[in-house]
Amino acid sequence: MVETFNRFPQSPDVLMADIKIEIAGIRLENPTMLASGILGQTGQSLLRIIHEGGAGAVVTKSIGLEPRTGHGNPCAIELKNGLLNAMGLPNPGIDAFGSELKIALKSNAPVIASIFADTGEKFSTLASRMEEHGAHAVELNLSCPHAEKYGLDMGSDPLKVSDIVGQVKDSVKIPVFAKLSPMVPDIGHIALAVQEAGGDAVVAINTIKAMRIEPEIGMPVLKNNVGGISGPAIKPAGIRAVYEIAGKVDIPIIGVGGVTTGLDAIEYIMAGASAVQIGSGVHYRGIDVFQKVSQEISEFMDRKGYASLQDIIGIARD
Ligand SMILES: Cc1cc2nc3c(=O)[nH]c(=O)nc-3n(C[C@H](O)[C@H](O)[C@H](O)COP(=O)(O)O)c2cc1C
Repeated sequence: MVETFNRFPQSPDVLMADIKIEIAGIRLENPTMLASGILGQTGQSLLRIIHEGGAGAVVTKSIGLEPRTGHGNPCAIELKNGLLNAMGLPNPGIDAFGSELKIALKSNAPVIASIFADTGEKFSTLASRMEEHGAHAVELNLSCPHAEKYGLDMGSDPLKVSDIVGQVKDSVKIPVFAKLSPMVPDIGHIALAVQEAGGDAVVAINTIKAMRIEPEIGMPVLKNNVGGISGPAIKPAGIRAVYEIAGKVDIPIIGVGGVTTGLDAIEYIMAGASAVQIGSGVHYRGIDVFQKVSQEISEFMDRKGYASLQDIIGIARD
């Protein structure tokens, strides 16, 4: 049996606020999750994020039907206020990933399987396989901005989103989350399509399409030319997206984009999110960023006299 994560090993009794949260029937010890694509490709690294990092849940790397190598190097660079990546969805494929998922599932924390495909049928096949492997939920990647026909290609069309979510819902019993891109005219409209097709939660946002050019050599810096920005630079775009989605849907929202501190997470929660995901924050604050952010959320809530997360979800909207 793997030990349960101790929320705050150094300060057991001082913090009072209740930061547990339930999303689509999935219980989290705290509202922080690992975002897809960061240390999420092996079972051991997912376990580390839970046990050493203190994440309330983890999302795996996006997995497809077949193994995929992704784009060439350089595929990720650091910017002043964020990261620019064009990984191109490298992954081992669903057959090989089953054993990794089983390792991650040895923990007590929920494991959410991110999947990508180019048709509703393939998404459904992947979701069923992930359910068989034991995933607690699936997250549909409808938002990667730099992987040809995948991701944003489908996630920007409400009819395709509705078709994919509907087909996946018909294929599995576990909750279905849809991860959306902010690069659409009306993200609330897309989120509504998710809800009306039976989706259980919306995740927003994925990276924002961008590029850099190296003046000395007159060439794009990334091998793939364009990539996606993550980290602090995109937090205001993420907050705006969550705020607009919360105005359109009743299903839970998971905020992602630029969370590195408890106050970043609080901003998302006040905009309408029930939980946050952290990706680039692992790079900025280390693997225990989840524990740090959880502690900072609790400290803020205690200072302001909020007893539970429910007291602050969406209060900036009122
Ligand atoms: C290196 C890298 C790889 C990523 N891979 C995926 C992926 O496979 N699937 C996905 O849905 N999002 C992927 N993302 C996007 C993140 O999950 C997240 O939505 C985005 O980085 C914004 O959050 P952050 O600012 O906390 O990093 C990736 C991001 C980075 C930086």
